Amino acid sequence: MKYNFLIRLFHLLIAIGVILQFLIGFFFDDLFAKLNGAFFMTIHKSIGLSLAIVVILLIITRLLSKKIPYPKAMSSLHIFLAKIVHFGLYLCVFCMSMTGLIASQLFQSQWQFFYWFNVPILLPQNPELGSEIFSWHPWFAYILLVLVILHIFAALYHKYIAKDDIVKKML
Ligand code: HEM
Ligand code: HEM
Repeated sequence: MKYNFLIRLFHLLIAIGVILQFLIGFFFDDLFAKLNGAFFMTIHKSIGLSLAIVVILLIITRLLSKKIPYPKAMSSLHIFLAKIVHFGLYLCVFCMSMTGLIASQLFQSQWQFFYWFNVPILLPQNPELGSEIFSWHPWFAYILLVLVILHIFAALYHKYIAKDDIVKKML
C-alpha cells in the first residue's frame, strides 16, 4: 500500500531540497562562494523558505490522510524509534529554515525568492539576536545530517534485510 500522491511528492521535494541545502551550506565557503556567492546564497535561502512551507504541507496532508499500519513484524519499540526519528526530521528541517529566515530578518538582509520577488522584512533590526539565532543553524544541520543518515540506513534495512513494504509506500 502506498501513501497518496501528495505525501510522496512532498516527501520527495523535502529529500531533494535538504540534500541540495546540505551541499550548498556545507561547501559554501570552499566552493559555492568562489563560483558565485550571491547567486548560491539566494538559492539556499529560497530553497530554505520553500522547505518550511513544504514541511507544513506534508504534516497537514499526513494528518488528513489514511494511516498505513506498520508491518506486524515490527515491535512497538521499533515503531516508537521510527516515530522519534521522523519527528526529529520534521523538527530539524523546520528549525533550519526558521533560524535562517528569522536571522536574515533581524539582519535586515534583503533577498529575492528565486530572483522573483523581494521577501518582505517583517521583523525590526537586531543583529545581536540575529547572530545568536543564526549560531543554532549549523547545530541543527549536524543533528539533521545524523537523522538523515539514520533514516536512509533504516530505508535500506527495510528494503534489503527486513524485505517489507515500508520503502514502497513512500517512493
Ligand atoms: C532546511 C533548510 C536549510 C538547511 C538544511 C540549511 C543548511 C545549511 C548548512 C548545512 C549550512 C552550513 C553550516 C555550517 O557548517 O556552518 C548553512 C549555512 C547557511 N545558511 Fe542554511 N539551511 C537551510 C535554510 C536556510 C535559510 C532559510 C536561510 C536564510 C534565509 C539560510 C541561510 C544560511 C546562511 C547565511 C548560511 C551561512 C553560509 C556561509 O557563509 O557559510 N539557510 N545552511
Ligand atoms: C534526505 C532527506 C529526507 C528527509 C528530511 C525525510 C523525511 C521524512 C519524514 C519526515 C518522514 C515521516 C513521514 C511521516 O510518516 O509522517 C519520512 C518517511 C519516510 N521516508 Fe524519508 N526523508 C528523507 C529521505 C528519504 C530517502 C532518501 C528515502 C528512501 C531511500 C526515504 C524513505 C522514507 C520512507 C520509506 C518513509 C516512510 C517510513 C514509515 O512510514 O515508517 N526518505 N521521511
